[in-house]
Amino acid sequence: MKIIDTISEIENQLQGCRKKGETIGLVPTMGALHEGHASLVKRCTADNNISVVSVFVNPTQFNNNEDLKLYPRTPEKDYELLEELGVDYVFSPSVEEMYPEEDKRVFDFGQLDKVMEGEFRPGHFNGVAQIVSKLFAIIKPDNAYFGEKDFQQLAIVRDMVRQLSMPVNVIGMPIIRESNRLAMSSRNQRLSEEQKKNASEIYKVLRESKSSMSEYTPEKLSDYVIARINNVPGLKTEYFQIVDGDNLQQVTVWNDSDYIVGCIAVFCGDVRLIDNIRYK
Ligand code: PAF
Repeated sequence: MKIIDTISEIENQLQGCRKKGETIGLVPTMGALHEGHASLVKRCTADNNISVVSVFVNPTQFNNNEDLKLYPRTPEKDYELLEELGVDYVFSPSVEEMYPEEDKRVFDFGQLDKVMEGEFRPGHFNGVAQIVSKLFAIIKPDNAYFGEKDFQQLAIVRDMVRQLSMPVNVIGMPIIRESNRLAMSSRNQRLSEEQKKNASEIYKVLRESKSSMSEYTPEKLSDYVIARINNVPGLKTEYFQIVDGDNLQQVTVWNDSDYIVGCIAVFCGDVRLIDNIRYK
């Protein structure tokens, strides 16, 4: 496995691979890797001749400096895991390498980024689109892998690829959960054992809501989920929205769409967690 920190070097290496007709897969990450990332990497190495994992904590997608400062960084542990998983290249550039000058590009995602994460983290998805478009331009992957925990991010990346006519196949992978069913996240490292136990209620409530969905309208079901979660010590729901899985707009009746997903953001102390459940 080669660890590369400059754009010119990774471009050189991959040009050689492409000339040989090898397919290239990319897993973009911000490091602090866990089993969720490992599942993306395993699929990437299985699907492609050459697998690249980027490890870069992207400052432009943080709308809160404290969150950026506290974001866990474990590069040595990450590289060890990626080596074990048989990755060919780790691309781990500095901020200066990726942003030699301020990235002033502003993307237009219509309504897709006006709701949920986009509403509560203004500018977040513009930053995600800035870095992912740069990574796609540098690596030129045939396939790129993203987790479905970041459900809205996946929709944004797909829309960006469509808008920019990028020849990248974007593959969404199922959420991987801890043994207590808490969705795996780099941010879980910041939770105490007690907080992890409380946070495990999030998915429990989401599953219960799915079993009783026929008894409620989407709006009433949302109220129920929010009230139940806010009742757990230390948890505070930021939003819970039941949306059409393609356009991310709220549904008012279950017949509004054949593809409905409930997306949630919850504060557990000062750690912000997201999760989702597919209703249909
Ligand atoms: O999901 C993430 O870890 C990040 O948003 C991504 C896609 C690596 C872009 O920085």
